[in-house]
Amino acid sequence: MKPILLINLKTYKGGTGENALKLARIASKFSRRGIDVILAAQPMDITRVSKAIKTFSQHIDPIEFGAHTGHILPESVRKAGAKGTIINHSERRIPIRDIEKCIARAREAGLTTVCCASGIEIVRKIALFKPVFIAIEPPELIGTKISVSQAKPEIIRKSVEIVRKASRKTRVLCGAGIHSREDVSKAMELGASGVILASAVVKSRKPEKVIRELIEGFSK
Ligand code: G3P
Repeated sequence: MKPILLINLKTYKGGTGENALKLARIASKFSRRGIDVILAAQPMDITRVSKAIKTFSQHIDPIEFGAHTGHILPESVRKAGAKGTIINHSERRIPIRDIEKCIARAREAGLTTVCCASGIEIVRKIALFKPVFIAIEPPELIGTKISVSQAKPEIIRKSVEIVRKASRKTRVLCGAGIHSREDVSKAMELGASGVILASAVVKSRKPEKVIRELIEGFSK
């Protein structure tokens, strides 16, 4: 499996609407170099972004076709062009029973699952549901310049160990504060299969330069 660079556009201005497409075009220049570069877009932007690059949704709801006004239906994001979805991001948390249901519904809809966990205990619980990826993200480091791989290496090592025992199908990503090639190479050294990040790219005036540097971290 290729290492993953998952850029979460969140609801940043630089990651919304036409700006999301601009970033997708920039990021797509890097997606053929042995790295799986993916953008997690807002539902409204999935169609346009997915024309340029592999795209995930930032969220789905654990619902089926039917009367669920205002919810995000897994099949809709798939039809819009998403290949996967984030579930339970720290900024969009859901109860554990909904996490299990979302993973199952995503599977039915043909979506890859990246299930976020804020700490070791939640990694342990989510691993039992066997998502494709578990992304460990300590919330206090999100949006900072202190990366999880430099500040909390143990949490990555431990997550990899737990996940390896619980599910052979699941891989670990890590995120929060990732902004340099060293952050990426350290994450890979600790056993992660890739990284998830947002502000370093989406808030940058030179996103192409930042993505290039991050990609270099995979080959260190
Ligand atoms: O989903 C990625 C995220 O929460 C990390 O954000 O800005 O610390 O890279 P950031």
